[in-house]
Amino acid sequence: MQYFVTSSTPETEKTDCVVIAVYEESQLSPSASTINTSSNGQIQKLIDRGDITGKIGQTLMLQDLDGMNSPRVLIAGCGKQNETTENSFNTIITSVIKALDASGANTATSYLNEIDVKQRSASWKTSQTVIAAEASLYIYTSTKSTAPSSEKPIQSVAFFSESSEKEIQQAAMQGLAIANGMGLAKELGNLPGNVCTPSYLAEQAQSLSEQFGSVTTTILDEEEMEELGMGSLLSVSRGSRQPAKLITMNYQGAGDEKPVVFVGKGLTFDAGGISLKPAAGMDEMKYDMCGSASVFGTISAIAELNLPINVIGIVPSSENMPDGDANKPGDIVTSMAGKTIEILNTDAEGRLILCDALTYSERFDPAVVIDIATLTGAIIVALGSKTTGLMANDQALADDLLQAGTDSHDRAWQLPLWDDYQEQLDSNFADIANIGGKEAGSVTAACFLSRFTEKFTWAHLDIAGTAWKSGGKNKGATGRPVPMLVQYLLNRIDAK
Ligand code: BES
Ligand code: MN
Ligand code: ZN
Repeated sequence: MQYFVTSSTPETEKTDCVVIAVYEESQLSPSASTINTSSNGQIQKLIDRGDITGKIGQTLMLQDLDGMNSPRVLIAGCGKQNETTENSFNTIITSVIKALDASGANTATSYLNEIDVKQRSASWKTSQTVIAAEASLYIYTSTKSTAPSSEKPIQSVAFFSESSEKEIQQAAMQGLAIANGMGLAKELGNLPGNVCTPSYLAEQAQSLSEQFGSVTTTILDEEEMEELGMGSLLSVSRGSRQPAKLITMNYQGAGDEKPVVFVGKGLTFDAGGISLKPAAGMDEMKYDMCGSASVFGTISAIAELNLPINVIGIVPSSENMPDGDANKPGDIVTSMAGKTIEILNTDAEGRLILCDALTYSERFDPAVVIDIATLTGAIIVALGSKTTGLMANDQALADDLLQAGTDSHDRAWQLPLWDDYQEQLDSNFADIANIGGKEAGSVTAACFLSRFTEKFTWAHLDIAGTAWKSGGKNKGATGRPVPMLVQYLLNRIDAK
């Protein structure tokens, strides 16, 4: 979709549909009030009659209203005035886009930035509108033989702004780049494991560098990883017929400045290995590459925006399968860092591929390293599907990520990474065990990674709960945490 800015008042604006807010208890927004006046009280009449209650998510399409230059007015119920939250704002936008898409309108102008959301600017509302709009229009079709399509899809939305056109246009562009990045992350996540293999992800990285001159991609194959001594990563892929890939995407936007390095778990299917997972819901382990998908999405967003920053995306990619040659419980492997690892559970494979990728990231002399991984079921127990888990060896970096989460409304919550937990990883036979027992599973997973990140500033995002929606009709990737990661980079640039 396309996004513009307009400074015309609602009754003079010429578009297919004007979108205005009405609150509960007959409260009109400024635009609704203007239209009410120019239509001789039509809006108030509909409220009095009970056609509009103003409930959040309610929409009512009016045709050929008196005094308007546009043929349609869409009224959006916005709840109680001055009580709109970020979540209800997104609900309002989603229902508006659905109503627009179901109507005959190709173009629309939104006056919904008038809604007060506490401590949120018009720019914020603009980019959230774009993100929510694009999200509600996303339909997965890649592996369906017939694709659903709306007959007269909504093609452009304009935002009303009197005085800050430039800022609003920029916010819309940022929102669109984030939404596109989320779309890429969703698409990669939703593809089945027999399509989205490590080799497929490697091809996607190549095509990102074809699409953007600012991105260069290198792919290491198993032989090259062998030479680097990545015994931990390779032990996971040994149990699979699909060869592992180590993908590096280099986005150069700021000369020789130290890069931000993202490391994304790219486990294209996690059957658990010899410590096989139960059958129910195992299909969802195709989503075990969503960390890597968020790295792809973030790099595409910043390349689209030409951001002045250097970013490197590293994606260790493999399957985790039960094969005759797979890791067995009790096996000991040697990581690239030289530390030996006792694999007590082959299903704790994410940390085994991440540790070698984290060691590899040292060679880029990173400003910070942030890994993003669907790492533990335990984080879903702790935080559910709303909040990403965050652990870090540096509080300033943790604070920056928490702030980026709040700013973008793609939020994380920090868990401790205190040394108290480290002893849970003690092994009688190796330097470290790959599991830490049943207590604090997300923390001990991060403790494992922390043994490989001592040389740099590092944070870990556990997105097992937030990267996709489970089960039933809503099953699908969310595109998170692309908004948080892009916001982190935008904030970093602002601080320079
Ligand atoms: N990919 C899973 C984590 C996961 C589980 C994500 C469920 C989303 C939903 C990871 O590889 C895994 O299997 N972790 C184990 C670790 C355990 C063996 C210590 C887990 O969480 O059960
Ligand atoms: Mn696993
Ligand atoms: Zn996994």
